[in-house]
Amino acid sequence: MRKKIIAGNWKMNKDIHGTATLIQELRDRLKDFRGGAEIVVCPPFPSLVVAKTIIGDAPIRLGAQNMSHQDDGAYTGEVSASMLAAVGCTCVILGHSERRQYFKETNELVNAKVKKALAAGLTPIICVGETLEERESGVTDAIITTQVRGVLHELSSGEIEKVILAYEPVWAIGTGKNATPEQANDVHRHIRKLVSQMTSWNVAEKLVIQYGGSMNAQNAAVLLAQPDIDGGLIGGASLKSDAFMTIIQAAAEAVSQ
Ligand code: PGA
Repeated sequence: MRKKIIAGNWKMNKDIHGTATLIQELRDRLKDFRGGAEIVVCPPFPSLVVAKTIIGDAPIRLGAQNMSHQDDGAYTGEVSASMLAAVGCTCVILGHSERRQYFKETNELVNAKVKKALAAGLTPIICVGETLEERESGVTDAIITTQVRGVLHELSSGEIEKVILAYEPVWAIGTGKNATPEQANDVHRHIRKLVSQMTSWNVAEKLVIQYGGSMNAQNAAVLLAQPDIDGGLIGGASLKSDAFMTIIQAAAEAVSQ
């Protein structure tokens, strides 16, 4: 059985003060948590150090929301993989649709970032997903295939084994309109089959594929009960400790069933 991983993508929300409060609340709520799901939080860059300090020995992994594809040097405004590792990050979200849409990130660039993240020992959470127009014109699988092949280009099976993929239909992000469990699971199964063709069934069966897009305290349990949905990448609902904790509990229950 694959583990379930719940990651909070805070986006451009929470300064150091809001970060301290939210992490402390999560710590408190996790006191009664018996495990069963892995937890990741991804605050904005300026909050990473404070988040790491307050996480302490709590079972929460720290992640960033983006990074450079360069190692170091004259790249004003950029942050490298090794800088993230040095502040205690073990994960990084790459290729989020907001980065693709607003900052023109391509599969090629995301692929370069994935390689740098892996080289620095970080787990990349790599996002793929179709737009509403693409879904309505029936090209979802083709779009996902191009994205998955693109972001995993030239990676060895051993490297692919280390990544997390996040299926995030663009039309579901921040809209309150989540994919149905069946719609999501169909795409997850498609991704797993594709990865099996690129590597082996053994690798594909172990691959963690998260769903993201309006996952919340109400719909998490049914989504996470799907056989190919191995966790969630949560935006809005990760900013409230009670909602995020309900999703974490739903993931743990899905594992124990
Ligand atoms: P949402 O965002 O949960 O607010 O829809 C998910 C994401 O963008 O990762």
